[in-house]
Amino acid sequence: MIGGGYVGLVSGTCFAEFGTDVAIVETNPDRLTALREGRIPIYEPGLDRLVAENVEAGRLTFGDDIAAAVKGADAVFVAVGTPSRRGDGQADTSYVYAAVEQVARVAEGYTLIVTKSTVPVGTGREIAKIVHATRPDLDFDVASNPEFLREGNAIVDFMKPDRVIIGTDQAKPGGTQRAQDILRKLYRPLYLLERPIVFTGLETAELIKYAANSFLAMKITFINEISDLCEKVGADVNDVARSIGLDGRIGKKFLHPSPGFGGSCFPKDTRALTAIGRNAGSPVRLIETTVAVNELRMKAMGERVIALAGGDVKGLTIGVLGLTFKPETDDMREAASIVVLDQLDKAGAQIRAFDPAGMETARAVLPKAVTYCKDALDAATGADILVVLTEWNEFRSLSPEKLKTRMTGRKVADLRNIWDPESLKEAGFDYISLGRPD
Ligand code: NAD
Ligand code: UGA
Repeated sequence: MIGGGYVGLVSGTCFAEFGTDVAIVETNPDRLTALREGRIPIYEPGLDRLVAENVEAGRLTFGDDIAAAVKGADAVFVAVGTPSRRGDGQADTSYVYAAVEQVARVAEGYTLIVTKSTVPVGTGREIAKIVHATRPDLDFDVASNPEFLREGNAIVDFMKPDRVIIGTDQAKPGGTQRAQDILRKLYRPLYLLERPIVFTGLETAELIKYAANSFLAMKITFINEISDLCEKVGADVNDVARSIGLDGRIGKKFLHPSPGFGGSCFPKDTRALTAIGRNAGSPVRLIETTVAVNELRMKAMGERVIALAGGDVKGLTIGVLGLTFKPETDDMREAASIVVLDQLDKAGAQIRAFDPAGMETARAVLPKAVTYCKDALDAATGADILVVLTEWNEFRSLSPEKLKTRMTGRKVADLRNIWDPESLKEAGFDYISLGRPD
């Protein structure tokens, strides 16, 4: 497994749990040291125990020696990052290609190279060219096995996936069968659980990943716009979402309004799909719009807080609950809090923030002047306005009466709809949320 980040570490550990011997190769020295010392460098519930058990059982190892890991391997997975390229929004595949070249240089005998990273359509074919150019003598195949795990729920998502996608080079005689057989064996425990496994071509597998993430991002953006409309016409977005979701063709998941989708993947993958479409001469206009609407939404959320303050937050204290792009992660990548706190900071507010897991990662990306608090009530202390940006469960049970004892002001912007409007209003708060009648 090349790359020991979210995907490499979780997939590698879960394959080990399936009974496979896994060697994870990680080049970041801090991450590698942590892994070797039994510390998990990312926040993922349950992962520490699973890693420890598999290391103890001798099925899971960590190192930086790519040759040692690749030698004798039935399959080599590439799980390195594919961040957005500045400017054009295309996925940066340079880490993938660099890793593949390293693998090709040290491979011995038949080698199956599998992309677990999310890669643009055509990457698999490009990998084949790179491997061939680096090692004309090498017998190899390329496969695409995109990963659908969610941060915070990663182990369950990997162990009990809705589906597994295996794309192989259908144009290569014999290549498909051999590669499929190896991957079928690796995923055997999922066959026993009767999880669907879809065998397809390389390009199809690559596109499935972007289409899935973009569809979900579009669904969220749809409900966010419906939420705005609800506010204008006096409708309730919770009832709209629940009711449309009861139609099995729509489905109830991913219909929660929010300050905008963030994270390591939806923003970059929607941008990448628009680039793939443009380059192929087949623009994906719905997703182009999704990207633009989501960016505007994050900015609109900061403006909403300023409007709640009466148009000016200069000198006011704003308590912020939740910073990460969603609960159960310490990941701050493209979180709405980055945009919102930047606006509030520039507008002259004093910000007191708390997040149960993301305080360290937040420090690197949020305005310098933010004060980091020890818990939610500490963040509310002395606040004129309280803003909820991430729906951590522990915030749901905060009582309005307790908040009143700590806050100076009586204004709350609940941008995740975690509280009941009635109880906040009864307690005397000027309370706004998303898409629910005043
Ligand atoms: P990450 O940045 O957390 O991890 C990538 C790791 O690869 C880093 O630790 C890096 O040091 C290491 N690395 C880079 N080049 C290397 C090399 N040549 N040899 C060894 N190690 C190397 O990224 P991630 O979140 O795990 O994402 C990886 C890929 O998986 C991306 O394409 C992403 O889109 C996709 N993906 C991510 C998620 C998610 O929830 N994070 C889910 C599904 C798919
Ligand atoms: C997402 C997908 O759900 C995974 O299937 C995929 O593998 C992964 O991206 C990836 O490719 O990396 P993740 O980014 O971990 O997983 O988190 P999600 O739970 O999907 O949430 C993404 C964003 O959408 C968050 O900011 C979240 O708050 C937001 N969201 C989600 C909403 O605003 N409303 C919803 O109803 C659901």
